Amino acid sequence: MSISDCRTPSLYLRNAIPMPPPGSAGGLHYGTRRFGQFMEIALNRARILVTGANSGIGAAIARQLAACGARVAVNYLVHPEATDALLAELHAAGAEAIGLTADVSDATQVGAMFAELDRQWGGIDALVNNAGIDGASALAWEAEPAVWERVLRVNLYGSFLCAREALKRMVGQRSGVVLNMTSVHERIAWSGFSAYTASKAGLAMLTQTLAQEAAPFGVRVLALAPGAIRTPINQNVWSNPETLRDLLTKIPLGRMGEPEEVARVAAFLVSGLASYMTGSTVFCDGAMSDYPEFAHGG
Ligand code: BGC
Repeated sequence: MSISDCRTPSLYLRNAIPMPPPGSAGGLHYGTRRFGQFMEIALNRARILVTGANSGIGAAIARQLAACGARVAVNYLVHPEATDALLAELHAAGAEAIGLTADVSDATQVGAMFAELDRQWGGIDALVNNAGIDGASALAWEAEPAVWERVLRVNLYGSFLCAREALKRMVGQRSGVVLNMTSVHERIAWSGFSAYTASKAGLAMLTQTLAQEAAPFGVRVLALAPGAIRTPINQNVWSNPETLRDLLTKIPLGRMGEPEEVARVAAFLVSGLASYMTGSTVFCDGAMSDYPEFAHGG
């Protein structure tokens, strides 16, 4: 069963009252059933692999996809006990979920992970390239080359390796979605984190290029860029009142995001509801990428 077999917009459109002409106020009532269509994200047992899925945004995405009815493969490298706990939670809720360990930056391990997916579920319908690290904060001229390289290997090369395996299968079956988790730092420079920003900017362009390559086969490739989301990766910032205050000045919405807020967008993007979206980045950042310093003056 592929994602395009799910309850797609076209299924709803057949029954829907035609949309009002573009620009009319009717669009404001979208979702009320008066002019538009009721929208529900139903992933009807779609086979979805989420990398780095045993913590933070990855875990929230795994939960949300499972709640929408997908089969979820939870990839992880460290903290097997967190994976066991997440799988137990998903199973208790009646979801179909498996754990798959692999270092995404290792081509052999990635190949084995996809072979295991083939064996268990006969393939893949969507990949969420979420595994990522931000490395140690260091100015470029003080950075440790091995640490810098590791960030690129996990965030960029690892995403490529997983996308490569996924696309081989998706192009063959002529359906599928690859969703790459980037960051506001695909666009915003960040002193001390040159490897991270370079990896995320690279991943954004990888997204566009893969989208171009895969589009003729009906396969979509997108990026989702979270802002400051409350997860373990930035706990040192949000657990300290002083650094949290500084962080909040950078977010027009005035608060950090929660992993579930990103996960809902991810579920929409992999679903058939986003059928005309490919090759772009969707920001989920409380307008952090909107240069809040320009709220005054300029
Ligand atoms: C980083 C977080 C950071 C956020 C906003 C994310 O990509 O992983 O550590 O808080 O960007 O700067």
